[in-house]
Amino acid sequence: MNKKNNEEFITLLQTSGFIFKGSQIYGGLSNSWDYGPLGALLARNIKDLWWSNFIKKDPNNFGLDSAILMNSKVWKASGHVDNFNDPLFDCKNCHSRFRADKILEELDPNTNWEKFSNQELTQKIKDNKIVCKKCKSVDFTDVRNFHLMFSTKMGIIEGSQSEIFLRPETAQGIFLNFKNVYRSMRKKLPLGIGQIGKAFRNEITPGNFIFRMREFEQMELEFFCVKNDVDKWYDYYINKANAFLTEELGISKEKIRTRAHEEDELAHYSKKTSDIEFNFNFGWGELWGIAHRGNFDLQQHQNNADEDLYYHDQITNEKMLPEIIEPSVGVDRLMLATLTNAYNVEKLDNDKERIVLKLPYKIAPYKVAVFPLSKKISKQAFELFTKILNWDISATFDETASIGKRYRRQDSIGTFWGITFDFDSLEDNQVTLRNRDTMKQIRIPINEIKNYLMKDDIH
Ligand code: GAP
Repeated sequence: MNKKNNEEFITLLQTSGFIFKGSQIYGGLSNSWDYGPLGALLARNIKDLWWSNFIKKDPNNFGLDSAILMNSKVWKASGHVDNFNDPLFDCKNCHSRFRADKILEELDPNTNWEKFSNQELTQKIKDNKIVCKKCKSVDFTDVRNFHLMFSTKMGIIEGSQSEIFLRPETAQGIFLNFKNVYRSMRKKLPLGIGQIGKAFRNEITPGNFIFRMREFEQMELEFFCVKNDVDKWYDYYINKANAFLTEELGISKEKIRTRAHEEDELAHYSKKTSDIEFNFNFGWGELWGIAHRGNFDLQQHQNNADEDLYYHDQITNEKMLPEIIEPSVGVDRLMLATLTNAYNVEKLDNDKERIVLKLPYKIAPYKVAVFPLSKKISKQAFELFTKILNWDISATFDETASIGKRYRRQDSIGTFWGITFDFDSLEDNQVTLRNRDTMKQIRIPINEIKNYLMKDDIH
């Protein structure tokens, strides 16, 4: 997508009800976004699809919904208190804040700047004569670590409040409940526990629209298995995540690639990690991480909480801590990738263009739009529209502007079918059904619409 198209793409999403700026009427809040009616429908459809594929249809896996606020000891044990920070420096003139490794990476992308100490980074910033991107000053503070976890205070009595953190990943709630789940569900290994929920990170370089946010949603599965099987499940989940992207979300194969992390890129808990990256409009970026976390987290919680988290094998009577494979993906990033992939500007025969969001039927916000050809027959068309809503099919009613304009409007938000109710419909009880992608139209009796729309092979 070129720059002009990217701007049009973002404008479309902001003006057609997918994504609004957060706190807009107060001038906004940097990098906070609200999902409008269409964005909320799309997000819900993507989450349902993930839940269905990774939890509901899988005989080994269970769902969970753990609390966002947890005992702060969790984050000490998980390593986040000590490891989850970025090296930052400030411009002394305009007080803009920058991430040292990212600024140096722009100059030299082949060096792994994450390995450098803060002192070394400070020196490199001086040596490379870095200037402030905002005010061009060269007067900076030293590089210091800045914590990525948001903290807040719990309790109401001043002085006796304790500091707690907003979770930066949903995964820890799963580890804490591993024993509860495998015991209550009476499930032997392997077993997966997945959840969808908000995570918070005080990202210093948020941006690229909804790619990197401070408040976002994750869909994480922690898959517990025996050590001998861990490589098998690692490959299995890389393949499953790839298949989900291409087969369920319709993402083109050439827009994604799988990249294994170098040793020195690995997170503190990871033995190996592969990222599925997507070619976003600003370049390749991480979409879905599949990590081999070993038994790091269970071991840490077992030690710190002084609680036996061993899995007891009833047959061999063996006690062990399972190994964990974690496929983790952000809902918002997945939405951005899906929308970017679906956005098409098509040339039409009459030299005109149409914008069409080719979202798969399952995730399209609206499956159907009902159009009365004239306002004189709105009432009858509206009756059909409410009937469709009662079939539990997500639909919209559009009676303003010419029929051509209405088609374009619905194409641009991904509505899969258009149903035109005309004067003949009053007589013959038939309507015209138009497919978004092929633009082909067929005449169909109203009493056959329900069965037709529910057929799997037409989407
Ligand atoms: N539990 C492992 C974990 O959280 P991660 O690579 O930090 O690993 C997993 O995050 C996924 O969450 C990423 O691949 C991305 O899709 C999403 N994600 C992470 N940080 C994000 C942010 N600031 N904004 C939006 N999505 C984010």
